[in-house]
Amino acid sequence: MRTDTPQTVLLADYAPFPFDIDRVSLEFLLHPTETRVTSVLNIRRTSEGDAPLVLDGDGVTLENIEIDGQPLPTSAYDLTETTLTLRQVPDAFELRTIVTINPSTNTALSGLYLSGGRFCTQCEATGFRRITFWPDRPDVMSRFTVSITADKSAYPILLSNGSPRSTEDLKDGFHKAIWDDPHRKPSYLFALCAGDYDVLKDAFTTASGRVVDLAIHVDAGEAGKAKWAMDCLKRAMAWDEAVFGREYDLDVFNIVAVRDFNFGAMENKGLNIFNSAYVLADEDSATDLDFQAIESIVAHEYFHNWTGNRITCRDWFQLCLKEGLTVFRDQEFSADMRSRPVQRIKDVIRLRARQFPEDAGPLAHPVRPDSYGAIDNLYTATVYEKGAELIRMLKQLIGADNFARGLEIYFERHDGEAATIEDFYACFESASGQNLSAFRQWYAQPGTPEIIIRESWAPATATLTIEVQQSVSGNAGAEAKPLPTPLACAIIGGNGTHLSHTSADNGEFLLISDDHQVVRTLAFPAGTERPSLSVGREFSAPVILRRHLSRDETLSLIKVETDPFNRWDLSQSLVRKQILNTTYGGGPIDAGLVDTVAQLSLDAKDKDPAFAALLLRLPTTGELFLDHKPADPIALDAARKDLKSALAARLTSELTVILNAPQPTPFRPDAAQAGIRDLRSAALDLCAHHAETAPFLNGRFEAATNMTEQQAVLSALLASPEDASDALAKFYAQWAGNPLVIDKWFATQARLGRVTELEALAEHEDFDLGNPNRVRALVGVFATGNLAGFHAPDGSGHDFVATFVRRVDPRNPALAARLLTTFEQWKDLTEDARQSAERTLRKLSAAKLSQNASDILQRIIG
Ligand code: TRP
Ligand code: ZN
Repeated sequence: MRTDTPQTVLLADYAPFPFDIDRVSLEFLLHPTETRVTSVLNIRRTSEGDAPLVLDGDGVTLENIEIDGQPLPTSAYDLTETTLTLRQVPDAFELRTIVTINPSTNTALSGLYLSGGRFCTQCEATGFRRITFWPDRPDVMSRFTVSITADKSAYPILLSNGSPRSTEDLKDGFHKAIWDDPHRKPSYLFALCAGDYDVLKDAFTTASGRVVDLAIHVDAGEAGKAKWAMDCLKRAMAWDEAVFGREYDLDVFNIVAVRDFNFGAMENKGLNIFNSAYVLADEDSATDLDFQAIESIVAHEYFHNWTGNRITCRDWFQLCLKEGLTVFRDQEFSADMRSRPVQRIKDVIRLRARQFPEDAGPLAHPVRPDSYGAIDNLYTATVYEKGAELIRMLKQLIGADNFARGLEIYFERHDGEAATIEDFYACFESASGQNLSAFRQWYAQPGTPEIIIRESWAPATATLTIEVQQSVSGNAGAEAKPLPTPLACAIIGGNGTHLSHTSADNGEFLLISDDHQVVRTLAFPAGTERPSLSVGREFSAPVILRRHLSRDETLSLIKVETDPFNRWDLSQSLVRKQILNTTYGGGPIDAGLVDTVAQLSLDAKDKDPAFAALLLRLPTTGELFLDHKPADPIALDAARKDLKSALAARLTSELTVILNAPQPTPFRPDAAQAGIRDLRSAALDLCAHHAETAPFLNGRFEAATNMTEQQAVLSALLASPEDASDALAKFYAQWAGNPLVIDKWFATQARLGRVTELEALAEHEDFDLGNPNRVRALVGVFATGNLAGFHAPDGSGHDFVATFVRRVDPRNPALAARLLTTFEQWKDLTEDARQSAERTLRKLSAAKLSQNASDILQRIIG
């Protein structure tokens, strides 16, 4: 029965499906309000006994059902709102069902729906049951043949997974296409698209010489904006062959861009479906961040072809098996395409901004949970981002060669299967000969470990003693244990070179923190001067690393540190302390610190402008929440602005130099040019906090030649809203026809505006409750990027977001649940804001919410 309290699903309850479905043939007769789906399944019992056949089906109307050509009487099956049960079935048989569904009313964007008048599907995790009756679980894999019939003039292009077999014109203006997917796959990878598209075509020749036809399908007139995505796709295909030995396995690879999509993109076999925000880009309308996001998401979905599709997940508890590994792969790809250190810093910023708070709050869960309430809510930063960090740690622990061999074994051993984390780790145990069971505790235990490093130097014996203490957070549970954690270290001598010592090599080594306390003593030749310790290099583990270093010790360490990530991180730690000091201690701004940060950035600016920009970047208000509780976003915001003003004052003349340098032309979205524009944007951001810059910025707005600059200037102007009205109006007028840029127009105001202004924006004719990108641009960006507004003590921000949760929930539960997660830090707020949040959440809990939203709400309220 359908119920609105989430039913907990337990990993311990896993049982294999008692039947095998070797082949499935699906026939779609497409119609916006009544689509008919005929399915023919070849079913064979694979278990002892006479288990009934239970199929999932949600919102599908059964029109006809036959076994081996014989219509079934209604007494032979039970139909509930979510299941079809056939109590007695033969051991081998053909089941034929005909159902009808209504895509035009599908606002949840799960299953078969319409976007911009075109048909598309989203089946992960449980959308396929909204299309037809089927055992909708990832361990049931089958070979799909799909026939699509539709009106040819309205839907000239008909796509599904695999390779096209035939197309045929029918009477009455209809046509039909048949697609065969030779690879067995779970239902969540099924896809169908139909409509009128502009198509950008290309081809890729694989390492073994097969030619793959590539095509990206977009809205009329937009094919030119898919060029970058196509370029990314070809580079991803070549990279996966070169780095992981993975070749593509079909004759065609199709991408379809849709405007209405709940997520970034989806890896359906041979037919990836993308949120159009991650396909369309050109210099006028897309920022460098957009180009970069497209590169990583196109690669991510493509890489799923092996890590996710060829080898899929046995059940949804194993989601990190495909997502953690695939994020790791896309991060490596981006690191190879761009600057590795800059990429690593950006990945860590994202992890700390999104995953650390999740792991510290009421929504914390293990990377591989053992229970869940609503599956859509498991697509979290923990599963994706922390999941990727665990793979990165594994690689460090067993070494790159064993890691590569382990993956080879994995692809070899489990190709065509639905696997578990245990299966995956068994491959690396085979490859390395190591027992990895202690490491696997990382998958079971939530919470971010804290590691404290203390060092002492004994000059008489020239020994350095490193003491590593690990404590696990409250969220890790009563049974929590220290987790095996690789800390990449180097010992750096006075002249900046790595020093050798007793236990290693050329000074670089792994220190494993696997107990509450680990002590390591390193001996150096007599007379050695006190060396410096570099630890956690390249952010070698997803932990909070604390060192008891004074400001001056930190500054001298930055000077010798050989790891760029650590140089950046040490500098950020000072910036962070400064902001926290001003916020909670009322301390003055440390001019020496401002000078150092400014100088570090200036030193890097010619060689690596992207790195220089990162040094000038201040931690976001949200990142600072974890450092001090209760957190006061309004005071944090003010302290950030003070520090920006101080940096701007220190850098006045240098900022002018940066902003007066000519823009790189012709525009290219590569890392080199993007870095230059990053630094310009950082400079514009600082200018915003310098008095009397409005005329200057308005001039820059007129002169902007690309979206990165236009957006950066608009944001800078919005720091004082009275200066921005002109530019906002011009921006809107210029981009009124481009929904992706209008999303930016909403998002920029949501990030910087006041609730009253945002309430007016919610009434704007371009605001569309049915479009997730637009809702996220206004409400999501407000709740995650404008914390002073969201957590205003008068409760106006909380009300604003809660109102949208209630309005969105009946049409799109997955989106509403995601908006609701933004309340996860409410218990950490200062008194007034905390009480307001609690009132809002309690009020919400009295309302009738979807399972997705109540699952989040119950966990958040606790
Ligand atoms: N598997 C997709 C990815 O990682 C995620 C995804 C796409 C998704 N659409 C979804 C998850 C809808 C849940 C619901 O790229
Ligand atoms: Zn993914």
